[in-house]
Amino acid sequence: MSKLAIIGGTGLTQLADLKIIKRDQLATPYGVPSAEFITGQLGNKEIIFLARHGNPHRFAPHKINYRANIWGLKQLGVNQIIAVAAVGGITQNMGPAQIAIPDQIIDYSYGREHTFFDNDQEGVTHIDFSYPYSQQLRSKLITAAEIAQIKIIPCGTYGCTQGPRLETAAEIKRMEQEGCDLVGMTGMPEAALAKELNIDYAAIAVVANWAAGKTESEITMAEIEQHLHKGMADTSLFLKAYFEKY
Ligand code: HPA
Repeated sequence: MSKLAIIGGTGLTQLADLKIIKRDQLATPYGVPSAEFITGQLGNKEIIFLARHGNPHRFAPHKINYRANIWGLKQLGVNQIIAVAAVGGITQNMGPAQIAIPDQIIDYSYGREHTFFDNDQEGVTHIDFSYPYSQQLRSKLITAAEIAQIKIIPCGTYGCTQGPRLETAAEIKRMEQEGCDLVGMTGMPEAALAKELNIDYAAIAVVANWAAGKTESEITMAEIEQHLHKGMADTSLFLKAYFEKY
């Protein structure tokens, strides 16, 4: 049986339509997760929701305890994660308020606790990470977007930067040359940790702003919030369609 969790990012610290059944505050061998794990009913489906940055939003991307979050979800029996994340748009079709379902990742983050396999064990475990996102979950999300008539981009490479500062124009230029379509700060190590625990993982990336150097103007928090508001409203419709169908 599948048990699904949604990890909400900036702009999605709670799910408005979720009928809360219980809240779990878990301790893990890796420390304290970002927030309570909220089990609730969305439509006629039971899901678990976790606010990645805490609720209220308080953990910067490099301070999130990704291992505690993913471990906690696994402990609760989760085997599928839909991660919602705000991103900057790099390539032409990734304008503000656009939603994309990325299919690849390049990791530029550093110094984060990024694996469950770092103790001396019987052997070193190297997981396959050729395709970081679950194809099956991505396909379902793409179908749900069609049903909800929300125009999404069904692929894209997500570049994960360290933050919390935004990037320089030159960094974005380099990322574009290296194949990134989107830039965010939380996709890694989250995706890899889910893979290490054998949890299917896919992301809904909501473009909040053009990435650095893509427009003349500076990136402001006000701009980010405005676009996220629209993007997250679409994401809610999209998730509703997902849970009605699957
Ligand atoms: N860069 C990195 N992360 C982001 C951005 C950005 O421009 N916008 C939203 N999250």
